[in-house]
Amino acid sequence: MKSVLITGISRGIGKAIAMKLSSDGYFIHGTYSTSQSEANELKNKLKNMEIYQVDFSDRNQTLNLIKSLKDIKLDGLVNNAGTIIFEKFDNLEITNWDKVLEVNLSAPFILSHALRNQFNSGATIVNIASTDGMTGSFASISYSASKAGLINITQSLGNIFGPRKIRVVGIAPGWVGTGMDSPAIKEAMETNPLGRNADQKEIANVVAFVMSEGASFINGTTIKVDGGYTNVEPILKKEAESL
Ligand SMILES: NC(=O)c1ccc[n+]([C@@H]2O[C@H](COP(=O)([O-])OP(=O)(O)OC[C@H]3O[C@@H](n4cnc5c(N)ncnc54)[C@H](OP(=O)(O)O)[C@@H]3O)[C@@H](O)[C@H]2O)c1
Repeated sequence: MKSVLITGISRGIGKAIAMKLSSDGYFIHGTYSTSQSEANELKNKLKNMEIYQVDFSDRNQTLNLIKSLKDIKLDGLVNNAGTIIFEKFDNLEITNWDKVLEVNLSAPFILSHALRNQFNSGATIVNIASTDGMTGSFASISYSASKAGLINITQSLGNIFGPRKIRVVGIAPGWVGTGMDSPAIKEAMETNPLGRNADQKEIANVVAFVMSEGASFINGTTIKVDGGYTNVEPILKKEAESL
């Protein structure tokens, strides 16, 4: 049975990824941080699953997770766990920058590095980035920077792992209807050429695809899954509407 480590399976996109990969026949090693009962519920539902509690903002906890996985061989690693902190530039706390970068960028890199000899040939590392990592932001600069970094390390790790027959692929969702929704969510739906935000399952389906044989030549790149949202330039749209 193939096995995969997925971070942040207790809610949202990570839960959808765990459900999809479980139905594709994978044994799931899943992490959660605060949502213990949700993680337990998923474990009971999926059966072929082990769960681990870890707060990736604490480097020691990340290293302890790695220790507890030391005897496990993996066919996949999905770096999904992520956090976002909204704050005005003039009041921001630099400790928040450290936390967001640790969870969203350092932990995926440390896991990829520490587990490097535990991947089976043909394994895939999937980094869940964001379209926020492809543009400037206003009140979540640390989040955008962390995702830009994740997109970049996907390129470097693709170079390093490729010769080892392990592919590294990023997925950059646009707006997804999960717990990370902001008050701007309705406007995002109206702006999207498809008239809606993504369902978590639509991100999970792409994860399953990039881990499959059908994606055997996709490496070191990040795939946008945004329904075309980032192609909508607001002034060009307004100009067209005024015709
Ligand atoms: N939702 C969107 O619109 C959207 C768009 C683009 C990209 N993404 C990316 O997709 C991924 C999943 O997002 P989501 O919307 O599903 O988020 P979510 O619903 O907020 O769930 C986040 C998951 O990450 C875990 N997590 C959060 N902080 C953690 C920490 N310090 N240590 C360990 N685990 C932690 C949570 O665990 P607990 O609940 O157990 O604490 C939870 O399982 C993230 O990387 C996010 O940046 C989301």
